[in-house]
Amino acid sequence: MTETDFIPKPYSKSINNGSFTWSSPSNIALVKYWGKKKDQIPENPSISFTLDNCKTTTKLSFSKKDNQNEFSFDVFLDDEKKDDFKSKIETFFKRIEAYLPFLKDYHFKIETSNTFPHSSGIASSASGMSALALCLMSVEKELSEAISDTLFIQKASFLARLGSGSACRSLEGDLVVWGNHAEIDGSSDLYGVKYPFEVHQNFKNYNDTILLVDKGEKQVSSTVGHNLMYGHPFAAQRFDQAAENLSNIKSILKTGDLDAFIALVESEALTLHAMMMTSMPYFILMKPNTMEIINKIWAFREATNSKVCFTLDAGANVHVLYPENETEEVQGFIKTELAIYCQKGEYINDKVGFGAKLIVSE
Ligand code: DP6
Repeated sequence: MTETDFIPKPYSKSINNGSFTWSSPSNIALVKYWGKKKDQIPENPSISFTLDNCKTTTKLSFSKKDNQNEFSFDVFLDDEKKDDFKSKIETFFKRIEAYLPFLKDYHFKIETSNTFPHSSGIASSASGMSALALCLMSVEKELSEAISDTLFIQKASFLARLGSGSACRSLEGDLVVWGNHAEIDGSSDLYGVKYPFEVHQNFKNYNDTILLVDKGEKQVSSTVGHNLMYGHPFAAQRFDQAAENLSNIKSILKTGDLDAFIALVESEALTLHAMMMTSMPYFILMKPNTMEIINKIWAFREATNSKVCFTLDAGANVHVLYPENETEEVQGFIKTELAIYCQKGEYINDKVGFGAKLIVSE
C-alpha cells in the first residue's frame, strides 16, 4: 500500500448527520519509536503491547453544513469545552484532508474522555488520536459503497499515525508493529500491523502496572523530542539498533525467553532516555523516584528470581511489566515497596489488551 491507495474514490452515498462512539486503548512500546521523517514516517520500526484499561472513548457527532471552505468542530473533554485542544485537531484535519475529503462538509462535535486521570503524565495522544481516526472511518464507511474490515483498520491506523505516530499501534492487539522491517511480513511505515508470528504462552495476558511518578505536564513534547534526533551524533546507530532489536524480539517472543525479553526491553527504555541525555539541547526526564524504582526492581529480581522488568516512555513514569503467573507476587511488591515513590501513591494496574471497539453507532 502507498499513500495514494488511501485516497478514496468519489463517495457514492450521502448522509446528513449521525454519531459514532469508539473506544481505543493506549499502548506501551517494547522497541521504541524515537525519531521521524517528514509526514510522520518513523526512522525505525517499533513494536508495542496494546493496553487494556488505559483507554479513550470518543463520540463523534456530525451534521452537514453549508459553508464548505473550512473545518468546523468543537471539542469536549469530560463534558467541558476544550478550545486549547483545537489547534492539534485542526493540524490533524489538515494532514488527513486529502484522505477524507468529507471533512469540510460537516460540523463535528468531538466528546472525549479517558479512563486514566488526565494529569497522570500518561500520553493520551495514542488512544485519543486512534479513537478519533476510527470515528472518522465510520463516517467514511457510511459514505462509501464498501470498505473491507481490513482496509477499515488499516486506513484508521494510517490516519491515526498522522495525528500521533504511536497512535497507529493502538487499534489492534495484542502486539503491533509499525515501520518497515524486512523480516516482518506486511510491516509498513504508513500504518501499524498486528504482529504476524507465533507468540509464546509466557507473553499472554502480560501485566503492565504504570507507576505515576510525575503527573505533571510533559517536560518535552513528543514533537520536540523526535526533532532532537535530527543531527543527533548517535542517530544512525540508534535506528539500526532498533531494527536489530525487532529482529531479536521475534525469537524471544517465539521461545518465551523471559530473560532475553527483560534485557531487550530495559535496554530499549534506557537507550530512549540516553538519546535525550545526549541530544542538544539535552534533557533528563527521569526523576529521583524513577531511579529508586528501577533499583528496587533490580534488587527484587536478584532476590526472588522474578521476571519483572521495567520500561519507560518519554517521561518519569515507570511501566512495570510482568508475566501473568507472577501477578499476585509482583502486585504485592508494587504495593509495599514501589507505591511510596509514586505521586500520592498512585499507580494503574493494566495488562495487554486486544484493541479498539465500536461502542455506539447512531
Ligand atoms: C517515547 O507518538 O507521542 O512513546 O508522532 O510526535 O505524536 P508523535 O510522537 P509520539 O511518540 C511516542 C514516543 C515514545 C515511544 C513509542 O511509543 O514508541
